[in-house]
Amino acid sequence: MSDLASDASHWDERAGLDELAAVLDPEGSAEKNALIHHLQMEAIRNAGLSRTDDVLDYGCGTGRVMREFGASVRSIRGIDISERMVEQASRYGDARLYDGHTIPFVADSFDAVISVYVLQMYRESTRRFLGMLHELERVLRPDGRLVLVERVERTGVLSLDAWRSELRAGGFEIKRTDTVRSGGSRFALVHRLRRVRAAYADVLMVAYATDRHPPGRMSV
Ligand SMILES: C[S@@+](CC[C@H](N)C(=O)[O-])C[C@H]1O[C@@H](n2cnc3c(N)ncnc32)[C@H](O)[C@@H]1O
Repeated sequence: MSDLASDASHWDERAGLDELAAVLDPEGSAEKNALIHHLQMEAIRNAGLSRTDDVLDYGCGTGRVMREFGASVRSIRGIDISERMVEQASRYGDARLYDGHTIPFVADSFDAVISVYVLQMYRESTRRFLGMLHELERVLRPDGRLVLVERVERTGVLSLDAWRSELRAGGFEIKRTDTVRSGGSRFALVHRLRRVRAAYADVLMVAYATDRHPPGRMSV
């Protein structure tokens, strides 16, 4: 079985779980997954999407981003390599099967691409990771933004420095990062679910394609 086919069949199986367990922690409690969901959606809400944006949800899973943001942008479409995930996401709009190579949209189709917990799985393979960035860059309009919610660790391939240099190698510049876990005061749920707080630390990154964006407006 190819890498892609085995990835897809893994996610096909996960798609049978409940909507959050399928895409977050399959063994975690419903409370834990609800907290993670809440924090991630809050982070994306603060990422500055606008009502005039055409958005792609890359690796849409069960469609929770499409459900949450469908009404607040001009359009949102999802793609995923798992047929079962696409079936689930189709409840919330236009979700399509992706062959893992060519995103099924023409160049310059989107103002923003959102991706949650997808690229982090490919950080061990520079070739696959850069191939993905290349496709994302193609479908983004000039000035388009890549909004990522990903795990960030202190060291290794998921460290912020490593993310930064690999995104840069793929033609993107990180413009902004926010720690999704806020330390407790911003999110009511964090107080209520103190127990799971320590297990959670993701970062939202907003990146622009480097060769299309005026250098003066980029900051790292
Ligand atoms: C952890 S889940 C996250 C799903 C969704 N982004 C969310 O946060 O609810 C990872 C998803 O990425 C999809 N996926 C894995 N490899 C992919 C690839 N190369 N391109 C697009 N989607 C991929 C999986 O099928 C799965 O639905």
